[in-house]
Amino acid sequence: MNMLSPSILSADFSKLAEEIQMLEKAGADYIHIDVMDGHFVPNITIGPVVLKSLAGKTKLPFDVHLMIENPERYLQDFITDNTEFITVHMEACIHAHRVIQQIKGLGVKAGLSLNPATPLNTLESILEELDLVLLMSVNPGFGGQNFIDTTIEKIKKLDEIRKEKNLQFKIEIDGGINLENVEKILSAGADMVVVGAAIFAAKDPFEETKKFISLIKV
Ligand code: DX5
Ligand code: ZN
Repeated sequence: MNMLSPSILSADFSKLAEEIQMLEKAGADYIHIDVMDGHFVPNITIGPVVLKSLAGKTKLPFDVHLMIENPERYLQDFITDNTEFITVHMEACIHAHRVIQQIKGLGVKAGLSLNPATPLNTLESILEELDLVLLMSVNPGFGGQNFIDTTIEKIKKLDEIRKEKNLQFKIEIDGGINLENVEKILSAGADMVVVGAAIFAAKDPFEETKKFISLIKV
């Protein structure tokens, strides 16, 4: 079953707990939390203090996307009872294999993310270790950007590799996803989609989330 992981990056930060409860009520599968450090990406967002304050406010698992340099220094800070996935960027890890083992050692699932310009072959020797591959379909840093179309071919290729190698990792896509392109993304082979602006810029984010779910859960 495909899954929806709404990003709270475009939510109202003055009432984040209510926003995630609204997403839970609408039927979302995860809460996608975008952590940015102003170094790896040109923006600063949520850190561990906010993430911890949201733990326990929902039953939904957290899908934590670390867009930070030296992620190995901070992994422990993102562990809560809600944390299911911690994803780091290949481009931010000198020793990606070690970081993935560290994430698993903390008792959560490990994801590795690729920027749009990073080719799939960088994953070749580590795919077996991963629970999740997060393909960025925008250059990370901001919500509300346009989907980069070449991602579709990348998803198809990754799905083929997954089948060939008989692996079970999830394929998650992040950036520029809307009601018009979500089906194309899923039929290319994605299992999890992140949606931020398309939900929170809508007149009624609750109804909009339900619309996404009706397209995703078919
Ligand atoms: C971008 C973030 C995304 C972003 C997606 O750097 O990783 O998760 O919030 O938001 P939309 O759906 O607005 O592109
Ligand atoms: Zn993200």
